[in-house]
Amino acid sequence: MSFKVPLSRPFLEEDDVEEVLNVLRSSYLSMGPYIGRFERAIAEYTGVDYAVAVSSGTAALHLILKSLKPRKGEYAIVPSFTFVASVNVFLYEGITPIFVDIDERTFNVSPEALEDLLIRIEKGKYSLSGEKVDINKVKYFMGVDIFGQPLDWDRIIPLLRERNITIIEDSCEALGSEYKGKKAGNFGVAGAFAFYPNKQITTGEGGVIVTNDEKIYELSKSMRNQGRGKGNDWLLHVRLGYNYRMDEMSAALGYSQMKKIDRILDMRDRVARLYTELLKDVKGVRPPIVEDYTTKMGWFVYVVLLDEGLDSERVIKALEEKGIQARNYFQPVHLQPFFRDMDYSEGELPITERVSKRTVALPFFTSISEDDVRYVVESLAEVIL
Ligand SMILES: Cc1ncc(COP(=O)(O)O)c(C=O)c1O
Repeated sequence: MSFKVPLSRPFLEEDDVEEVLNVLRSSYLSMGPYIGRFERAIAEYTGVDYAVAVSSGTAALHLILKSLKPRKGEYAIVPSFTFVASVNVFLYEGITPIFVDIDERTFNVSPEALEDLLIRIEKGKYSLSGEKVDINKVKYFMGVDIFGQPLDWDRIIPLLRERNITIIEDSCEALGSEYKGKKAGNFGVAGAFAFYPNKQITTGEGGVIVTNDEKIYELSKSMRNQGRGKGNDWLLHVRLGYNYRMDEMSAALGYSQMKKIDRILDMRDRVARLYTELLKDVKGVRPPIVEDYTTKMGWFVYVVLLDEGLDSERVIKALEEKGIQARNYFQPVHLQPFFRDMDYSEGELPITERVSKRTVALPFFTSISEDDVRYVVESLAEVIL
């Protein structure tokens, strides 16, 4: 089905096309010069020492975790209100996710819920599949900057540091966002960004690891390339690795897009502000809340919360009938069919479960026209009644 106003669209200009064509003309399609150029652009922009470009955001998260030498039987605290990949990477390594509830304003992990959960585990009052969770085995926290908004890190970090829990920052949705002046990606031992075509910038498929930790950098670089050693000797494999390499066409596109990241984020910010302004007059809809600590918002999607009693599925269908593509972001991870099979169930995360029935992502992309935004808001006002 094609829509008059799609949910998202990549922002591609002639210079992006030219940069990718340069690769095709060079016949250097993988492991060429653009990977390094793209990585340096990302590292510089994010303010970190190292960046490692990989084939997806999921691969980035997986390699960060692998670099931390995870062991089967450990636990990770994760939000359920996220994309499934934030949680799956732990399952890949035999680590059990423990879900934590979110804040109703930001949809990010709530510091209160996190503290409450940690205390319950410490007191031996938290069980999974009939087994008490040992706090000493809770090793990781996946901090997801949801929809581009950073977590309230000053309240989250002390709770985890005190208990030696390692933070991985899933910034896949938050390129360019800042928490109190510091860029997303800087709040854990490493961060991940993703570049699927609906993201702030795209490489088609792709992701990147950002870190100041030399070990994580070296291990990730090796593991993305089948565990090759430092010299990249063609058939010398010093550890278990993967093919998580980013190809040169993707890197060239990412490099080109990074040259205009500020303009892209400004354009997205303008769209978000217009939506928020127009939605003021629409009853039954709460626009996204940007907290004061979010000193810059690298907008990923524009998700509204419908009033209690309104159902997002109905509203989405009605918008689609008007040629407007909308989506229910997110369906909780712990209620996905294969998580239910693992014994997670409804009733565990009241805010996540309540909110996720009422969230609607409206069409949002860098080049969306003012007229289209107005049409979406007018249509929403009509169908919501
Ligand atoms: C929060 C979050 N984590 C991880 C990912 C995974 O990224 P990818 O789809 O590039 O593997 C995404 C991408 O959609 C995401 O939104």
